[in-house]
Amino acid sequence: MAGSLPLHGRRVLLGVTGSIAAYKAADICSRLGKLGADVYVVMTPEALQFIGPATFRALTTHPVMVNLFEEPLTDRIAHIDLAQGCDLVLVAPATANVIAKMAMGIADDLLTTCLLAVPDSTPLLIAPAMNTAMWQHAATQTNMATIVSRGTECVSPGYGVLACKDVGYGKLADVDEIVTAVCARLNHVSDYKGIRVLITAGPTREPLDPVRYISNRSSGKMGYALAAEALRRGASVLLISGPTALVPPVGVEFVAVQTAEQMLAACLLHAGTCDVIVGAAAVADYRVEKASGTKMKRHEDESLSLRLIPNPDIIAALTATRSPRQFIAGFAAETDHVVENASRKLRSKGLDLVVSNDVSRTDAGFDVDTNEVTLHWPDGTIQELPLQSKLATAGAILSSIAAARSSISN
Ligand SMILES: Cc1cc2nc3c(=O)[nH]c(=O)nc-3n(C[C@H](O)[C@H](O)[C@H](O)COP(=O)(O)O)c2cc1C
Repeated sequence: MAGSLPLHGRRVLLGVTGSIAAYKAADICSRLGKLGADVYVVMTPEALQFIGPATFRALTTHPVMVNLFEEPLTDRIAHIDLAQGCDLVLVAPATANVIAKMAMGIADDLLTTCLLAVPDSTPLLIAPAMNTAMWQHAATQTNMATIVSRGTECVSPGYGVLACKDVGYGKLADVDEIVTAVCARLNHVSDYKGIRVLITAGPTREPLDPVRYISNRSSGKMGYALAAEALRRGASVLLISGPTALVPPVGVEFVAVQTAEQMLAACLLHAGTCDVIVGAAAVADYRVEKASGTKMKRHEDESLSLRLIPNPDIIAALTATRSPRQFIAGFAAETDHVVENASRKLRSKGLDLVVSNDVSRTDAGFDVDTNEVTLHWPDGTIQELPLQSKLATAGAILSSIAAARSSISN
């Protein structure tokens, strides 16, 4: 039974630092343990201000280490043993301070000393958590760029209400996302190595005047999950996104757009270099024929008519100009006749795959963290995926695309 757990026999070093989110490390620790991992916890002295070691000792059944000079075994040096004896190191939450020390190679406590002794071949993941201003500070962003360029993987922080009551970026990523990232790294899925993937995400905004626009409820979560997952599996990822409240996964090439026309231009500019294209954006079908250059005024007792004209069909433009062997998948957000509409889209646009979802549901589709999608293939095969996190859905979609590409090339 234990042998069938995805992390059975894998040793994870979990670093916990002095963030208000440190209590969530207990959940991460417990989840990794339940998946079969043997977890060793190292805390910074500041982390002890937020959560006690007894919690981690009970969850892991191992002593929790904090002090560099308190060696549990007299014949071994703990920080070298810990760093070199594990299959993966996860720092969650990672403070701005620890990220800065990692970037500079500072080793002034047990955790940062361990981090410096981790062999290059051992995956090192961090999940930052901090106040928005701290996260967006040029120092933190430069430090992040430095450690990512050395191979550290970042489970990007999310957007939301922070402990300090600010609303913004910096919230620790969902525990689910962090645990999935650990599983993906330990299971060595690198089936997208050497593959360039273009993903479109989010809504588009079609202006009515300088302050108003037409848009839709897309949060971008599905497209960003695809980008994060493709990156994790070794792809070089280009994410072209309409406006969202999400942080682009660290390591993707990011192009921000507003309108459908801008998204089309960005896609056409980059598509030629991409092996796989996934159109997950909810592109507005129409735009106002002539947006007003100045703010439109309200006139009592007068109705207002807007003339809408069709936007360019981005996915059709991409299939029309595709390069040989390029795989193109599109999403179909439907509220009715899901299978019929998805099959029509697959045929009429010459797609290799349509991923459909019923956006009238409350647990799938727009603005939620879960999705239940169906894959429609050109040979008529329909593959239903279960209701699961968007990250897990992204993983399943990418696995299916990888399998389809390899069957075409064989
Ligand atoms: C209540 C409180 C909450 C804090 N939360 C965070 C946080 O979420 N992220 C962060 O980077 N620093 C946070 N800090 C600041 C760190 O605790 C401080 O920079 C400390 O030196 C970090 O030490 P460490 O990185 O060695 O664990 C917080 C401080 C306090 C007092």
